[in-house]
Amino acid sequence: MSIQTKKLVIGLFGFGVVGEGLYRVLQQTPGLNAEVKRVCIKHADKPRNAPPELFTTDPETLFDDPEINLIIELIDDADAAFHLVTRALKKGIAVVSANKKLLAEHLDLLIELQQKYQAPLLYEAAACASIPVIRNLEEYYDNDLLQRICGIVNGSTNYILSKIFDEDIDFETALRQAQAEGFAESDPSTDVEGLDARNKLCILLTHAFGLRARPQDIPCLGIQQLKQADADYAREKGFAIKLVAQAQKQSDGQVATLVLPQFVAPENLLYNVKQEYNGVVIETNFADKQFFYGKGAGSFPTASAVLSDLSALRYRYRYEYKKLRHSVPTTLSEDYYLKVYVSFEQLYQVPREAFQEIYQWSSAADFCQVSGLLHISQLLEHDWWKNDSVSLILLPDGIIDARTVQTKKYQRKPELVF
Ligand SMILES: NC(=O)c1ccc[n+]([C@@H]2O[C@H](COP(=O)([O-])OP(=O)(O)OC[C@H]3O[C@@H](n4cnc5c(N)ncnc54)[C@H](OP(=O)(O)O)[C@@H]3O)[C@@H](O)[C@H]2O)c1
Repeated sequence: MSIQTKKLVIGLFGFGVVGEGLYRVLQQTPGLNAEVKRVCIKHADKPRNAPPELFTTDPETLFDDPEINLIIELIDDADAAFHLVTRALKKGIAVVSANKKLLAEHLDLLIELQQKYQAPLLYEAAACASIPVIRNLEEYYDNDLLQRICGIVNGSTNYILSKIFDEDIDFETALRQAQAEGFAESDPSTDVEGLDARNKLCILLTHAFGLRARPQDIPCLGIQQLKQADADYAREKGFAIKLVAQAQKQSDGQVATLVLPQFVAPENLLYNVKQEYNGVVIETNFADKQFFYGKGAGSFPTASAVLSDLSALRYRYRYEYKKLRHSVPTTLSEDYYLKVYVSFEQLYQVPREAFQEIYQWSSAADFCQVSGLLHISQLLEHDWWKNDSVSLILLPDGIIDARTVQTKKYQRKPELVF
């Protein structure tokens, strides 16, 4: 009997925020004909809200059980997850995972194993949790038409920024609240430094543009360097600051890709994406803009995406990775410009010559601000923007095609003058 018709007998790895959420959600969806048979966790002594006989700390118990026909991997350790997921695929067992770090770092191999062992791996929960963005990018959007994806893809940092902006709560308190709500990763620096958003962007690039990128090749800055003065500046201009992951096709067909804090104006669809919500704007040549919105973190919202994968396996759904097989492979662009605002403490921290054009420069004894146009090579080849005292924020519509700059067609924003 194939997995499509027989009962799904699940070996579940992880019983944390998402794992326990999935267990509860499955109890409320008996029609799915799926049962969690064993749960492998790390700490045997932790109290659990489920029958004790369900739990083991020995992964072999799950792999050796001939009845288990689906492995669901929901642990917070990407290295251990790598061994579990590859092991399951090599045994020909279908896998569902929510582990964006694992996927961003090893997707090439995981695609190869899926093909070699004819075992599907689904991971809708790994990007934007409850929002069905991966399957839509994979199935609906033709690569030639897709021009841009631009999103708030990390619920934890969006929650923190919302608390800072809307409730005037300080960073540390907001982070503690995000952790208490279960939105933050076990290691919160992964969220705060933008690495989680970058991992998700790597996954989205695969399904949107057929572009396989290594996380370390994507310029990335989180919210850790933002200062009160930046928030005050944003408020004064009527902007919000959001951590935005984006990819924009350039006129030469390559894709400009980055994760940066960005000033977002009220007319931008991402402006009202608040708290732990995520939002992704997709732009195509003919359909113009489309907007995906929903909860990007949390127990039940994330479990709902895992549940959707589980039910998709019933009708033989698997990712085909069609766009990866395009005759001309899509590549990361290293030739585009950024319109940015930078604040910093000491003049020597930001080189004037880094800017192709300076719109405005103001400096006082211990605080300086500049807005201007930078070539992306400044972020790819230099480190000045990673200094703790330096805050770099992308201006609205801040990615500029190199050809537009060469022909001087891009527009400065007069309202961004200090
Ligand atoms: N939380 C969210 O909102 C969210 C959203 C989207 C995706 N995700 C992803 O979902 C996954 C799980 O996240 P989470 O928030 O549920 O994490 P979590 O609450 O920290 O729970 C992690 C679970 O993994 C178990 N574990 C860790 N290492 C293990 C190992 N080697 N073998 C077996 N079990 C192990 C832990 O066991 P113990 O209970 O014994 O410690 C715990 O039950 C992560 O990949 C995360 O990135 C989370």
